[in-house]
Amino acid sequence: MKFLSSTLLSIAFLALANMQVSNQVMAAPTPATADNKVAATMPQIEKRAISGINNYNCKLTAEHPRPVILVHATLLTADSWWYVAPALVKRGYCVFALTYGQYKGSAFGGLSPIEDSAQELKSFSENVMAKLNATQVDLVGHSQGGILGRYWVKFLDGKGKVNRMVGISAINQGTNLSGIVIFAKVLGLFTPSQPIFDAIAPSFYQMVDTSAFMAKLNKGGDTAPGVIHSNIGTRFDQVVTPYTNSFQKSGSGIPNLTLQNLCLLSLNEHLTMVNSNVVLQYVLNQLDPTSAKTANCISFP
Ligand SMILES: *[C@@H]1O[C@H](CO)[C@@H](O)[C@H](O)[C@H]1NC(C)=O
Ligand SMILES: *[C@@H]1O[C@H](CO)[C@@H](O)[C@H](O)[C@H]1NC(C)=O
Ligand SMILES: *[C@@H]1O[C@H](CO)[C@@H](O)[C@H](O)[C@H]1NC(C)=O
Repeated sequence: MKFLSSTLLSIAFLALANMQVSNQVMAAPTPATADNKVAATMPQIEKRAISGINNYNCKLTAEHPRPVILVHATLLTADSWWYVAPALVKRGYCVFALTYGQYKGSAFGGLSPIEDSAQELKSFSENVMAKLNATQVDLVGHSQGGILGRYWVKFLDGKGKVNRMVGISAINQGTNLSGIVIFAKVLGLFTPSQPIFDAIAPSFYQMVDTSAFMAKLNKGGDTAPGVIHSNIGTRFDQVVTPYTNSFQKSGSGIPNLTLQNLCLLSLNEHLTMVNSNVVLQYVLNQLDPTSAKTANCISFP
């Protein structure tokens, strides 16, 4: 069993590596040169147009009365929703996504201090609400995107603005240092170094489970008052470690779902969670519990 899980973990790592060279959002890191700046080692974002999102003329309906705002993960951008967003649009939701946390003009999102990113989410969401004449939004957040809304509600005067938050491998309890090592690898650094990271991506060490940021966020409970929470995580998470840190512990009855409990063989790791059919079905079920359907396990991404 131990062998099997470490094999599966290697496959998950391979999936991450593959993702950088080919498919979703990242291309291979630029090779480092002798006098490289760290920025030169960063993978490059592939642009993907997602049709139907950020349509400020979208009309809310009785069936879908709130705008849905998609909040991407660390090192990704709004483009990472290329799979989830069109599926929501097709079902009649008004769907919005921002790219936040582009620290010092980085191509990647999710790098700025998390407090600043939460402020970006707040401004973006308030603009959406004003344009659509809505009083509340629903948030779907991946990884770091799963905690920005909590910060907004708790510390940036967001009480009452968020109806529901669906976390996909959300970094609710932070990650131990193993998760940070993975970020270092993605950036082409051999070892994580807090001074380097604080200079290029201040959010990284804020996401460590023992950080002052995490202590502040989770003080007095890891939920946001008045919000309906739910989470889906994956056993093959290599960023939120241990993966159960993606769940919330304070509120009673907050559903946490481990992807592999729905799909024993699903290999989705942290970054590819948002490209999974099963995760998509989970999100749809949470956004509209009255039309919930069992996720379809056959279609492994
Ligand atoms: C905005 O919504 C309020 C109710 O929430 C309604 O009374 C008002 O007519 C709406 N305004 C527009 C421009 O749709
Ligand atoms: C982080 O958590 C994972 C999963 O529980 C564990 O395997 C790993 O050894 C931990 N790493 C550190 C640096 O504590
Ligand atoms: C969700 O997971 C957390 C952490 O494992 C646990 O404390 C909590 O009881 C779980 N909630 C439910 C409803 O099972």
